[in-house]
Order: sequence, then structure tokens, then C-alpha cells
Amino acid sequence: MLSRNLVSRIAARRAVPRAAAQGARFFNQGSKVEHAEEVRAGKIITVTYKDGVRQEVEIPVEPHSTGPVAPSGADEKQRAFPLDSSILSQLNPTLKKFTLPGKVAVVTGGGRGLGFNMAQALAEVGVRGIAIMDVQKPLGEEAARELSEQTGVDVRFYQVDVRDGDAITQAVEDINDHYGQIDVLLNAAGIADSNIKAETYDTEMFRRLIDINLTGAFLVAQAVGRKMILSKQGGSIILVASMSGSIVNYPQEQSCYNASKAGVVQLTKSLATEWARHGIRVNAISPGYMDTALNRVPALDAQKKIWIENTPQKRLGAVDDLNNLAVYLASPASNFMTGSNNIIDGGYTLW
Ligand SMILES: NC(=O)c1ccc[n+]([C@@H]2O[C@H](COP(=O)([O-])OP(=O)(O)OC[C@H]3O[C@@H](n4cnc5c(N)ncnc54)[C@H](O)[C@@H]3O)[C@@H](O)[C@H]2O)c1
Repeated sequence: MLSRNLVSRIAARRAVPRAAAQGARFFNQGSKVEHAEEVRAGKIITVTYKDGVRQEVEIPVEPHSTGPVAPSGADEKQRAFPLDSSILSQLNPTLKKFTLPGKVAVVTGGGRGLGFNMAQALAEVGVRGIAIMDVQKPLGEEAARELSEQTGVDVRFYQVDVRDGDAITQAVEDINDHYGQIDVLLNAAGIADSNIKAETYDTEMFRRLIDINLTGAFLVAQAVGRKMILSKQGGSIILVASMSGSIVNYPQEQSCYNASKAGVVQLTKSLATEWARHGIRVNAISPGYMDTALNRVPALDAQKKIWIENTPQKRLGAVDDLNNLAVYLASPASNFMTGSNNIIDGGYTLW
């Protein structure tokens, strides 16, 4: 059940007429339009790795597709608008620091939900390339296609399970070869198990979740961090943790998830100290309860009422509520910030 606030907000956003949206100031104009047209009229590349063998497939991109393209009932998807390069020169120093012109980002878990939305936000502040890494092929391909169509950014999809260190290394090599650099890593891949009492928690399930949420975050950060160190250009690594890394959720039992995210928070701090000398900043985003597919399961319906009741803002987070924090952490706007755990939860952890 959504709060009235959230429902009216979503309705308002849905109601934005497409023509008005296209006329928005930040919509593509001038030379960027030509680039966008090239990408839109062309194709995107998706890459899979099976037993170490790389397979590259071209997927056609529909010209002039305008999105949003989510099937009804899925996460609310909004269209992304690319940053017109002519606007950059007009920005004052403070606003300029929030942009990422010419940069390249890797987004794990970018196939849907929070990862996809944050990838859209990075596209809107000027990145030239985005590599989406996700285990789900159809989702990842669709996400790459949409983002490419909407923004003209060079988006590629890499089908990778974040538990698979070899595949990650191979994909990161590939990404670096294609784009020539990696400046930002946003690790949003993750899963949740909930309503499982500790005394009956299956050991294999426990290991699997830790493997994806914690070891996966480490493996991706390690592979990208190595590239950033070699490049001597530094970079920004953002690990999506959770408020569950700092508090214990109520009323559901989820010891493993909470432990995994506490691990991600501490991993963030450890990497930040080790890699500061290489100009690499490492920060965590710790969301509260967000209205994404991860939480849209019938078993959680009753609990959602309690979550909303216990949140001072009386709502779940919208799927794009992390976007501007991600931009801040990825960009020079947060140059002196590293090792920080940024809780963004509508006030939930205050009570
Ligand atoms: N939704 C919330 O309320 C919430 C709250 C706090 C933290 N988070 C965290 O935010 C992140 C994104 O959550 P979301 O709500 O967007 O979830 P989601 O399920 O909508 O998206 C997660 C994405 O990660 C991908 N993924 C899962 N396992 C993977 C693996 N082994 N390898 C590669 N990709 C994998 C999925 O395919 C999916 O595209 C997760 O790390 C989650 O723990 C979510």
C-alpha cells in the first residue's frame, strides 16, 4: 500500500505530456542530437560469457523511441534526458561539479529497479558510456536498449553473475577495451531474503545471499578498482548497501540480509582507506524501504503498512529517490567524501 503522497506524485509524473517533456531544457539539441540519432538508428551491443567464451550480439535500436516502456505493474520507469553539451559551458562552478561529461560508468544490477534508475541519472549528467552488468539477460538487454534510445549514450549490456569472479574480470577487461576507461562503479546488484527465522535459516541460502550481496560487491569493486589504480586517474566507487546494515528491520526476520549489508558498509570504509592514495573514492548508499520489485511480493504486503507507519515521511522511497545522491557521489561534487555510509530512508532509522 502506497502513501497518498507517493500515489499523487507518481500520478503527477505520469501526467507529464510527452511533447512537453521533449521540449524540456535539457533535451538533446545540436550536435548531441546527431550522435543520439546515430545510436538510435543503429544498435546496441550485448555480451555474454559462457565457459570463458565471449559472445557478442547486436540488438537493433528503434529510431525515435520515446519510452517510458515499463509494462504496467512493474517499477515506474521515467524517460531519461541527455545533457546537452552546450549547457555545460553555461553552468556555474557549483552546478558543473555535479556533471560527468565524457566519463564511463559500470552499473551492476542495472537491469531494473534502483540500479537502472541511477544509470538513467548518470546518463542525464553527461556520461558518454554505461556498461550495464546484470545476471538477467532479457532485463539487461532491454535496459541497455532503453537507455541508449532515450539518451544516445553508448550503453552496452554484459551478462554477468556477480558471484563469478572470472566473468567479472573478463567483462571489466572488455569494458575497459571498448570505452578506454572506467571512472565510476555503481554496484546495485543484490538480492533479499526475508521472513526467515535464524534458527531455521538454510545454510545454502545463507551462503548464496552473502555470495551475491557481499562477495559480489567485493569482486566487482576489486576488478574495477584494479583498472582505476592502473589508469592513475582515480574514480568513484559506490556500493549500494542498505539501512539494514545499521539497524535491524522490524517486524520481519532477515539476519542474513542485514549481516550482508553491514558487511558492505564496512567493506566500503575499508576500500576507501586502502584506495584513497590512488584517488579512488568509495562510498555507500544505504536506502530505506523502496518501492521496487524486490519488495513487491505478496508476502510483504502486510509488513509494508508497518514500514510506512514507522517512517516519518509516511511513504516508501520511489524508485528514483536515490538518483541525485548517486550523481553527487559519482561526481566531483563529493570530491572530499570517501568511506561514508549515506542513509537515505525517509527518516526510518530515526525512530
Ligand atoms: N528495494 C529496497 O527496498 C532496497 C532497500 C535497501 C537496499 N536495497 C538494495 O538496492 C539494490 C537494488 O535493489 P532493487 O530494489 O533495485 O532490486 P531489484 O531486484 O529490482 O534489482 C536488482 C538487480 O540485481 C540483479 N542481480 C541480482 N542478483 C544478481 C547477480 N548474482 N549478479 C548480477 N546481477 C544480479 C537483478 O537481476 C536485478 O536486475 C540491492 O542491492 C538491494 O539490496 C534495496
